[in-house]
Amino acid sequence: MTPSTSASPEMTVNQTDFHDLDKQDPLAHLREEFDLAQDLIYLNGNSLGVLPKAAKTRMAEVIEKEWGQGLIRSWNTHNWITLPQRIGAKLAGIIGAQDKEVIVADSTSVNLFKLAAAAVRLRPKRTKIVTEPGNFPTDLYILNGVKNFIGQEIEIITVPSHEVMQHIDENTALVCLTHVHYKSGTMLNMKEITAAAHAKGALMMWDLSHSTGAVPLALNEANADLAVGCGYKYLNGGPGSPAFLYVAEKHLAALEQPLSGWFGHANAFAMSDDFEAAPGIEKTLCGTTPVLGASALEVGVDIMAKVDPQQLRDKSLALTEYFMRLMEPLCETYGFELVTPKEQSIRGSQVSYTHPEGYAIMQALIAQNIIGDFRAPNILRFGFAPLYVQYIDLWNTVKALETIMRDASWDQAQFRAKNKVT
Ligand SMILES: Cc1ncc(COP(=O)(O)O)c(C=O)c1O
Repeated sequence: MTPSTSASPEMTVNQTDFHDLDKQDPLAHLREEFDLAQDLIYLNGNSLGVLPKAAKTRMAEVIEKEWGQGLIRSWNTHNWITLPQRIGAKLAGIIGAQDKEVIVADSTSVNLFKLAAAAVRLRPKRTKIVTEPGNFPTDLYILNGVKNFIGQEIEIITVPSHEVMQHIDENTALVCLTHVHYKSGTMLNMKEITAAAHAKGALMMWDLSHSTGAVPLALNEANADLAVGCGYKYLNGGPGSPAFLYVAEKHLAALEQPLSGWFGHANAFAMSDDFEAAPGIEKTLCGTTPVLGASALEVGVDIMAKVDPQQLRDKSLALTEYFMRLMEPLCETYGFELVTPKEQSIRGSQVSYTHPEGYAIMQALIAQNIIGDFRAPNILRFGFAPLYVQYIDLWNTVKALETIMRDASWDQAQFRAKNKVT
C-alpha cells in the first residue's frame, strides 16, 4: 500500500489499510492541535473549521488580560491596532502574496463589495462584470449590489466558468470567480483565467473561500489583481471569524474603496473631518477591528502557516480520491451522483454528490456523529480538511452511509424536517 503522499493512491480494500495510511501520514500529528471529540467524524471544515486547542488559551488570555485588565490601553500595549496587518502578513505566506498586499477585515461579502466597487472605479469606461451562474450566492448578490449603487452603467454577465474566457472583452472591467466552487469542489485555473482577463485589460478578482488552507495558492505568480476569502473554513478561525482581502501591490496606490471608514484613514487619530486614505493596504479597512474574532483567527492561521503546502495538497488529493473510490459501489446501488471532478488538477478539497433525498440522508449521517452538509437543491458535501481528517474517517463514513442506505433509515420524519441552516 502506498502512503498518503502519493497523489494517485492505489485503491485500498480493508479497514486496516486506512489505519496504515494514518500511521504513514506526515500531517497526522496536526490533529492533536484541534479539539475534536474521539467519536466525531468531521467532514465539514469547508464550512466551519474546528476549534484549535490553542485558541481556547489565547481567547482566555485576550479576554481576561488584554480586554479585562488592559482595557483601552491594549490597542497600543497589545497591538490590537495592527492586528489586521499582522495576520494579513501571515496569510500572505499561505496565499503566495507579499505581506503588504493582504489584510484581515470585515466579512468576505463586505470585502467583495469594497474590492468590486474599487475595480469598477479603476476601469471607469468599461461596463461589464463577468462571473458565473451558480457562483456562491453572496458573490452574485454583492456584484448586483455594486451595479445598483456604483452610479455608473454596469452589466453583470453570468456565463459557465468553462466559457468565461470567451466572454471577456474590451468592455469588461472585472472578472470575478470563486477559485474552488462551493458546491462541486471544482478548481479553476487561476493563472490561465487571470491572463485571459489581463489580455483584454480587465481586472481579475478571486474568491478564495474554499481554497485558502485547502489547496496551494500563488496569487503573485498568477498575477492576480484582487482576492477575498473566509477565515472560518479551512483556516479554523471560528464562527463569524473576520475575512481577508488581497490587493496586488501595483493597484494599491490608485485603488479607492467605497467604505471609507476611519480605520482606512491615513491618520485615524488626527480626527479630521476629511477622509484621506491610508497609502497602503490599510486603506481597505473600514471600522474597528473585531479583536476577539481576529485573535482566534490568528491561532488558526499560525497552525496553517507551519504546514508544507505540497504535503497538504498530497493528503487532500489522497483523501478525496479514496473517498470517491469507496463511494463508487454506493453510487451504483443507491443513486448518488458525483459532481466533483475526478481529474485531480481541477479538484479542491471536497467531494459532493447529488441525491434526491440528500437532505434526509445527510441528517441521518449527522445523527451518527458524522458531519457533512447539504446544499440545495440536492447536494451532499463532504469536506476533507487535511489538518485533522484521518484516512480511517473515510472508511467509517462510507460504511455508515452504506448501512443508512441499505436499511433506508434516512427515511424518517425527523431527518426530513428542514433546519434553518443546512
Ligand atoms: C465562496 C464563498 N464566498 C463567500 C462566502 C460568504 O462569506 P461571508 O459570510 O463571510 O460574507 C462563502 C461562505 O460560505 C463562500 O463559500
